[in-house]
Amino acid sequence: MRLVLVGPPASGKGTQAALLKQKLGVPQISTGDMLRAARKAGTKLGREAEGYMNAGQLVPDSVVIGLVEERLQEADAQKGFILDGFPRTVPQAEALDQLLNRLQTPLNAVVQMEVSRDLLVERATLRRTDKRTGQIYHLKYTPPPPDADLEHRADDQEETVKARLDQYDQMTAALLPYYSAQHLLRKVDGVGKPEQVTGRLLAVLGL
Ligand code: AP5
Repeated sequence: MRLVLVGPPASGKGTQAALLKQKLGVPQISTGDMLRAARKAGTKLGREAEGYMNAGQLVPDSVVIGLVEERLQEADAQKGFILDGFPRTVPQAEALDQLLNRLQTPLNAVVQMEVSRDLLVERATLRRTDKRTGQIYHLKYTPPPPDADLEHRADDQEETVKARLDQYDQMTAALLPYYSAQHLLRKVDGVGKPEQVTGRLLAVLGL
């Protein structure tokens, strides 16, 4: 299965990718996680990405495309993958198509997660992540256990979340007609318990 999850910030891409990777036996590839890891490690790429991420802006296409091209050629991605947060612009989607055409491994589906804007702001601002395990929690909907070592993402402050939502509308929403024209786009209602959303995802994938 070669799958792309598209959706606005906090629509549940990371939560669903983590649940699906176990069921599908393929790796989750999150450009957000890769960029945060580079930032934490203080690499040149991480330092370059940091300013964009903190402002809720997209990191330049050239940086992200290079990162994903390398990752997709690693051994574990040969059996399939779930891309979470990439592509996010039409040039990124075109670069992905070119790479997958070269490898003769086209996408099977692109799933769009649908959640209303009000709920997205609440989901992002109350999100917490366990630093040790990477597990994603929500203070209201999926509360963390008492011993979790929690962090609050710098870009989950309300104003930055709104800037990220605007970026999605301006740049990433253009992917929807792009993939619809390729007959790859499926839509999933992202509201409900995470396991219910996973059930809907598997259904639109015919699994
Ligand atoms: P990234 O980390 O990809 O952020 P994002 O797309 O904004 O997505 P999020 O991680 O915020 O949300 P999500 O959809 O994964 O939701 P989650 O499952 O966590 O990117 C961060 C930054 O990196 C970008 O702003 C940009 O600067 C840069 N970047 C990354 N990729 C890039 C690219 N390709 N090009 C350029 N720049 C790039 O869920 C959110 C919350 O809701 C959690 O608290 C969760 O517990 C809760 N929740 C989830 N599902 C449910 C549910 N069903 N019911 C109730 N609560 C739920």
